[in-house]
Amino acid sequence: MFADLRGRRVLVVGGGEVAERKVRLLRETGAQVEVVAREIMAADLAGWIGSAPVAWLAREFDESQLDGVTLVIAATSDAELNERVAAAARSRALLCNVVDDAERSGFIVPAIVDRSPLVIAISSGGVAPVLARLVRERIETALDESLGALARLLEAWRGRIRQALPDLGERRRFYAGVLRGRVAGLVRRQRDEEAGRELARLLASPSAGAGSVVLVGAGPGDPALLTLGALRALQEADVILHDRLVSDDVLALARRDATRIPVGKSARAHSVPQERIHELMLEHARAGRRVVRLKGGDPFVFGRGGEELEVLARHGIPFEVVPGITAALACGAYAGVPLTHRGYAQSLRLVTAHCGGGDDGLDWASLAAPNQTLVLYMGVASLATVGRRLVGHGRDPSTPVAIVERGSRADQRVTLARLDELEDVARGGDIRSPALVIVGEVAALAEALHWYGEPPRQWQALRRVA
Ligand SMILES: C[S@@+](CC[C@H](N)C(=O)[O-])C[C@H]1O[C@@H](n2cnc3c(N)ncnc32)[C@H](O)[C@@H]1O
Repeated sequence: MFADLRGRRVLVVGGGEVAERKVRLLRETGAQVEVVAREIMAADLAGWIGSAPVAWLAREFDESQLDGVTLVIAATSDAELNERVAAAARSRALLCNVVDDAERSGFIVPAIVDRSPLVIAISSGGVAPVLARLVRERIETALDESLGALARLLEAWRGRIRQALPDLGERRRFYAGVLRGRVAGLVRRQRDEEAGRELARLLASPSAGAGSVVLVGAGPGDPALLTLGALRALQEADVILHDRLVSDDVLALARRDATRIPVGKSARAHSVPQERIHELMLEHARAGRRVVRLKGGDPFVFGRGGEELEVLARHGIPFEVVPGITAALACGAYAGVPLTHRGYAQSLRLVTAHCGGGDDGLDWASLAAPNQTLVLYMGVASLATVGRRLVGHGRDPSTPVAIVERGSRADQRVTLARLDELEDVARGGDIRSPALVIVGEVAALAEALHWYGEPPRQWQALRRVA
């Protein structure tokens, strides 16, 4: 219900927690709230009483209390009393809400998402309040907390915007750009002054565009591992440039109208050269679009995110970064491998094994040191080399290894082996990218702690079967 209650009297009958919930909301409306109850049982409600705008009428309900009242709320645990309040209100043609009783209510208090001055009300007409609450939670997560501040900024600028852009169509396009662009990003980071300056700049030359790029980590595949920031960026995008590793389930959450451009790369097939990706980002941002550059895992962990930002910085394109859950963390969690389990590992190293052979520049002696967990990215092609080198540099040949293929996806597969078996696994294990290799005593814990997908396959047991 959207009503202007400023300065109006609202009667709440009841002094318990239910009444307290209603008064909490009413305090925000500017209404004069009168609470009818012999006793106040709820602590917050007791605290509010006496300080405007909440007053307490410490007596039984009687009809005369309805004189001059705009709205009535019956919030006692006594059904018969609630009915009496509702009937009295009805006889005076007053709207009354009986809490949790749609049938007796003249109006329903909806669940709300409050981004004042923007308020969204959700109601199931009293039929399924739990469902309405669930929908509220979904909307709550989808909408940025800074939306209210953005609305207030636009309200302050409304007159100037109208004057500068008298054409309605032009104005709508301008607002759409502002709401999804850099101004919104600045408000989100509470840099209101800069947001105002950016708004002024855009208004002075609307054709300059409000294009920007958000570098977003999409996590390893399971959409449940997206951050709220990533989800919101996807829902605000005009253009999404996405990697091959980004799952379809994640892309399905993006704004329907967004243009999706695959710029996938795999170890062998470089389908879109890095330079072309840079060009595409620049092209779309300069055209005033909100570009999301979507990468698997985290953009700064073996993701070339830094290089892309350097290009944007060089060309003066504004950008933001939303981190993602990197494959090491996700694969550890989804395979039941606590990466720094106490007593097993004192450090964790993320290493790219995109080495093959020759001088790969890796310090194998330090990588082979005990009491640490190594997580090797891009290691499928170099599985045998990794095993040989680590053993050659002194790591115990019986060190457990977990190979996690397609971590966090529905078809995740985990293979457990010893370090000295990796050559064998590389030959006959049919290991496919994307896969992550976890080396260290913690890997053996997957046997007992696995919880997701199929149980891990044991390489030795497999060999015995073969
Ligand atoms: C180019 S790197 C990108 C890493 C990414 N930026 C991250 O933070 O996870 C690609 C490598 O990440 C690993 N990887 C990414 N997603 C994976 C997944 N779902 N399961 C297993 N490994 C994954 C694989 O080792 C793959 O070869």
